[in-house]
Amino acid sequence: MIAYINGKFIQENEVKISPFDRGFLFADGVYEVMRTYNGKIFKIDEHIKRLEYSLKEIKIDGFDINNVDKIINELISKNKLNNDFNIYLQITRGVSSPRMHAFPSKEIKPTVYIMLYPLIHASKEKKNGIKVQLEKDIRWTRCDIKSTSLLPAVLAHQSAKDNGASEAIFVRDGFITEGSHTNFFAVKKNIVYTPPLTNFILSGITRQVILEICRNNSIETKETNIEEKELRNYDEFFVTGTTTEIKPVIRFDDWIVKNGKPGMLTKKIQSAFKEYTLNF
Ligand code: PDD
Repeated sequence: MIAYINGKFIQENEVKISPFDRGFLFADGVYEVMRTYNGKIFKIDEHIKRLEYSLKEIKIDGFDINNVDKIINELISKNKLNNDFNIYLQITRGVSSPRMHAFPSKEIKPTVYIMLYPLIHASKEKKNGIKVQLEKDIRWTRCDIKSTSLLPAVLAHQSAKDNGASEAIFVRDGFITEGSHTNFFAVKKNIVYTPPLTNFILSGITRQVILEICRNNSIETKETNIEEKELRNYDEFFVTGTTTEIKPVIRFDDWIVKNGKPGMLTKKIQSAFKEYTLNF
């Protein structure tokens, strides 16, 4: 596979990154994950807008955001792929030596890396639903920034996996925030609930699309806090994300939701989402 690194298109196994890259030493960078449907990048403008926000919030400048869609499209055409795929883009503050916490005093160029990688379809999970594990949200309080510093998410997800669950769902001060790499939705009496956009969650592109789909299908939505202790009062649950799409949640730890099958409204939203991806 050909990847993009700092202006060059080269084989990904030939990409070299300095050990003084601040992304390597400090996780001082941000990223985006996109995907294609029928060869077309899903919601690229929204992803670029979020990238711009992340860069601004961590004060990385010197990267021309206006060129990024051109670069991604060039990378796609160079790889001549027939299938759909994920697109990973990472921008770090750049290379600076010796190691020190403060931003380098002389201007450095951000490191820009883009790669394509295969989709994992997980069709069974989308159809039958998944088990999730509740985890204390020990992440920082700027989860609205898509930072590459993902250790708490990695550890929570691994812990869930070790216990036979497919995703970890974070709980902060008694409220559900989001999954390790997904947004969280619940359904009660045909109303779709999802936590509001704050510094405690990522503004998911898929989350926005789901809310749009609900509006278009006259499904009522409420962006409001979901309490952990109230979970059993909801009828259905699902998680969403670029690589996840929509996965129904049928079990939390040892608690099986209702009849242990994906809910009706979840299935309706899944099929509307599928339709949406055919024509966007
Ligand atoms: N996940 N919340 C977190 C913490 C995430 O990392 C992600 C994305 C989401 C969903 O955002 P979106 O719908 O824009 O993908 C929510 C990575 C990129 C993934 O999809 O694997």
